[in-house]
Amino acid sequence: MTAEPTYENILVERAEGGVGLIRLNRPKVLNALNQATITEVLHAMQTFDNDAEVRAIVLTGSERAFAAGSDIAEMSGKAAPDMLADRRFSQWEELRRVRTPIIGAVAGFCLGGGNELAMLCDVLIAAENATFGQPEINLGIIPGAGGTQRLVRAVGKSLAMEMILTDRRLSADEALRAGLVSRVVPAEALMDEALRVARSVASRAPIAVRLAKTSVLRAFDTTLEVGLELERHNFYLLFSTEDQREGMRAFLEKRPPVWRGR
Ligand code: CAA
Repeated sequence: MTAEPTYENILVERAEGGVGLIRLNRPKVLNALNQATITEVLHAMQTFDNDAEVRAIVLTGSERAFAAGSDIAEMSGKAAPDMLADRRFSQWEELRRVRTPIIGAVAGFCLGGGNELAMLCDVLIAAENATFGQPEINLGIIPGAGGTQRLVRAVGKSLAMEMILTDRRLSADEALRAGLVSRVVPAEALMDEALRVARSVASRAPIAVRLAKTSVLRAFDTTLEVGLELERHNFYLLFSTEDQREGMRAFLEKRPPVWRGR
């Protein structure tokens, strides 16, 4: 087992079944996301992403807060040139390029930059006490890490507008109905459920999983025509893998497949 580097704002471990676990850990400020935290999350994500043994990542916070937003104390004294100069948003862009599926496990406050980080996850699971919102308008700003774009795609224009313009917050059940999360579970079951889903992803054919993630994400930023073309391209590509032959042979031979990731 490889030793994980020491981080100050996150806890990182490897769970069973090819799953990497990243836990935001700034309890005194409800996991507010300062730049150091984003830097560490990106480093941990990229380390897992480059490790062939890690096939799914779980990102979580505490029972009280996934994250209550970007760190307001850190941002409060900044002017536009400072914000432009800092690496914050290029790091968010790099997070978007993580190829390994990310399962977000959300309990408690999931606000502002916290909700934007959650929306970078590929599957979101909420505890019953989760609250989702974009309260930036109360601070005289707007979401800056993708909220105005991803929230619209996740819940539709009208609800996204209400959340961004009036700080309307969604309960876990409302988030489920709106399509922001894929399931709601009791708080005490959150981690078990997130790890179960992550292990399920991790147990599938690795190349197919990555190409599936890439293909689905393209649905957000391209035309149907181009997206369908990419899907077909990735579909054909999988017919050059051993795993495709193994998967189909195993089905016909009525036995479980053994994936080799090639
Ligand atoms: N940044 C910095 N510190 C924060 C924080 C944040 N986003 N959210 C909470 N904290 C701190 C509080 O200042 C407080 O610290 P002290 O104990 O030193 O006073 C501590 O965390 C606990 O918070 P509260 O006492 O406020 O706890 P509460 O249960 O009464 O309220 C809350 C919880 C409703 C989440 C409230 O803390 C809150 O409204 N937080 C701010 C939420 C917010 O506005 N987020 C958006 C930030 S801007 C952004 O994210 C920009 C972007 O898009 C990139």
